[in-house]
Amino acid sequence: MRKSDLKSLLAGVLVAVPLCLAFGTATLAWTTRSPGADGMPQSALLGMTAAGLVALSAAAIGLRVERAQVASRLASVDQEAAERAKWLANQAAAEQMSLRNVAPLLPAEVLPASSFSMRAANLEALADILLRHRPRLVVELGSGLSTLLIANRFKTAGNGGRLVAFEHDERWAELCRYYLLANGLDGIAEIRTVPLTRRSALGCEVPWYDLPTAPSDLDRIDLLVVDGPPAGDPRHAAARAPALEVFYPRLSPEARVFLDDTDRTGERAVVDAWVESFPEFHPRFARTLSGYCVLERLDPSARRAVP
Ligand SMILES: C[S@@+](CC[C@H](N)C(=O)[O-])C[C@H]1O[C@@H](n2cnc3c(N)ncnc32)[C@H](O)[C@@H]1O
Repeated sequence: MRKSDLKSLLAGVLVAVPLCLAFGTATLAWTTRSPGADGMPQSALLGMTAAGLVALSAAAIGLRVERAQVASRLASVDQEAAERAKWLANQAAAEQMSLRNVAPLLPAEVLPASSFSMRAANLEALADILLRHRPRLVVELGSGLSTLLIANRFKTAGNGGRLVAFEHDERWAELCRYYLLANGLDGIAEIRTVPLTRRSALGCEVPWYDLPTAPSDLDRIDLLVVDGPPAGDPRHAAARAPALEVFYPRLSPEARVFLDDTDRTGERAVVDAWVESFPEFHPRFARTLSGYCVLERLDPSARRAVP
């Protein structure tokens, strides 16, 4: 039982007990009054008045307790809001720094950014993975700025790295292809348009790419970037869940999985489900503005036998 529930219970008892006493005293005095006496005896009236006063005082105490509880709850809501505002201000400053770091890593011609675009801090984390782990084959779900960044990093590194991005929106795919071409990145990155279809995931039906299995030409994927399909609508919170199951058989032993937007409960549930199904993957969450999670095998030899 919580402390506030205990206080409410106490206040209730303080009101109820004197009232019961008053009723009991009056009943006793009435039933034991001398035969022939008219009306209520004085002792019963006195008892009832005293008990009534005690009950009123207890009710007043109860009200004060309630008021104090509401005030303390409001104070804690205020404190939470202040902490959240401070966190957001810090993250906005961090985003600005990441933007400065990421800008030189993008190609000259950059797609128009929007609220759908991967945030600068998350793009920066992707660039860090590319630099430190040197993946050769990257598969991405949901194209955009991240596609340009990965392809441009491969071009700069000149290491023969290749990117295949899956995109459900044909018009968006066309725009992304235009920018790949404009930056001379079309030989490094390819965008495949695949429409969305219904698929069951985490106990519900979600829209996911019409890919029952991973395409057979994609083998030994070193990095799987999951930033699609869109999962902002709470009804589609689990929309990114099928990614690991579908691409698992094609991952290299050292493969990493990058899931964007783990500030949302849906994406965190997706990570929980992935770790439950594939326990060799260890998740590392980063609390940036929109959050991300990188999953990697602590022991690359620990993976399921795949057909
Ligand atoms: C979270 S976004 C993918 C963002 C992408 N990885 C990036 O870094 O820009 C998921 C989907 O939103 C859709 N979308 C619509 N407008 C978009 C925009 N302006 N920028 C990015 N994605 C957009 C695309 O279909 C995309 O696959």
